[in-house]
Amino acid sequence: MPPRIAVLNGPNLNLLGEREPEIYGRTSLADIERMTKERARVLGVECTWIQTNHEGELVEAIQGLKGQADGAVINAAAFTHTSLAVRDALLAVRVPFVEVHLSNIFGREPERRRSLLADLAVGVVTGFGADSYRLGLEGLVSRLKSR
Ligand code: DQA
Repeated sequence: MPPRIAVLNGPNLNLLGEREPEIYGRTSLADIERMTKERARVLGVECTWIQTNHEGELVEAIQGLKGQADGAVINAAAFTHTSLAVRDALLAVRVPFVEVHLSNIFGREPERRRSLLADLAVGVVTGFGADSYRLGLEGLVSRLKSR
């Protein structure tokens, strides 16, 4: 069975393309989904995709990874910096994940420089725009294949 990867997106990422394009670029989330799924196909992995603006829905999506996904690529957006509930869900399911961000969170306001998730991640890709998703997927898949 091919590895199953879930891509989870948090709040406001549905507005990519029109939202603060000088920070997040002009590529829409639908375009990033298309490019990431195309890369997944080439890599021979299954890829599911969700976006939610609701913390509880993100928590439930993470809980649902158990037994359903071999790994995850997660852009928790603002919840990265605030959500102990998202952190606790990741601790509960223990599914390997890569944290991704379009912008370089370490070059931004102090409150964005802290991630409540990063120490649990296989790795973090931050600052490569839409490409962060592809790079995160590739890193995760190579880690899963080397296990
Ligand atoms: C983001 C960075 C977060 O600080 C911000 O709240 C986002 C997007 C990024 O992809 O650069 O919504 O996760």
